[in-house]
Amino acid sequence: MKALTDLTLIVRRTDEVGELIREIELVRPDGAPLPPFEAGAHIEVTLPEGGHNAYSLIDFAGDAAAPAAYLLGVRREDAGNGGSRFMHGLQAGDRLDATGPKNHFPLDDGQGPVLLLAGGIGVTPLIAMASALTARGRDFRMVYASRSPAAAAFADRLVAAHGARIQLHHDDQAGGPVPVAELIAKADPAAHVYVCGPKPMIDATRAAMEAAGRADAQFHAELFENTSHEAGDRPFEVEIASTGQVITVPADQTIIEALEAAGVDLVYDCQRGDCGICQTDVLEGTPDHRDVVLSKEERDSGKVMQICVSRALSDRLKLDL
Ligand code: FES
Repeated sequence: MKALTDLTLIVRRTDEVGELIREIELVRPDGAPLPPFEAGAHIEVTLPEGGHNAYSLIDFAGDAAAPAAYLLGVRREDAGNGGSRFMHGLQAGDRLDATGPKNHFPLDDGQGPVLLLAGGIGVTPLIAMASALTARGRDFRMVYASRSPAAAAFADRLVAAHGARIQLHHDDQAGGPVPVAELIAKADPAAHVYVCGPKPMIDATRAAMEAAGRADAQFHAELFENTSHEAGDRPFEVEIASTGQVITVPADQTIIEALEAAGVDLVYDCQRGDCGICQTDVLEGTPDHRDVVLSKEERDSGKVMQICVSRALSDRLKLDL
């Protein structure tokens, strides 16, 4: 895996661009060019309280090869970990630390058509994809779904840049969510589909792709929420197959958090269930899948799981660790 770059960044500009959404432009303190990135990439901003939040890099200008600035779009999530409130409090001249860029959501390098499906602030990585696809001369269409026109940040710039390739869907005007199954059924059967947004939209897209008989390789997703905890979560046990050690995963911790606290070495990255890196074989027990990586077949097999977000339906899981 490519080594990550530590970045010190200065806020050059921050503007409100939609309901609860701010656009934040970041530069190096000396104004030098920032590391290049590819469409779908993100940086991880270090939060003052510890931890980090991942933010996709927006690219309208097609200058991701030598960017003078990084542009982020951040929606304020009052129920979140405080990271988005910190980002919304930034002002011009403030300094922050970050690492990256890295990319769990790259474009395939084929030549066939592409359908980009954006849900809310999940539009941000897809903006760079639209620019990259245009630069490559590759056929694409974007459907950008939001609750209302006021929530559709960046929509005007997308339409100005790509015209009729951008289709806007506002739930309040359409009377409901974007009809994903219909979009997939009508899309070119060879199209690669990139979806970024809330989990129900990603799940609906995957289900529609599977129902339409599309290949797994044509489906690409990035999740813009953390699905590791839900109301009613309960503790369960994890048995480490190689050592026989049994560790309890409390209701408010992930498997990774509980195992690391017990001294188990693990490999992981996104901790959102979309990069696939923490995938682990399940030897016994029934996983409660909450990722967007596994295919229906893999989920139904119960033999593999993403331990960053998924939990257990059984009292114990025996994992091949
Ligand atoms: S760490 Fe990325 S899917 Fe688990």
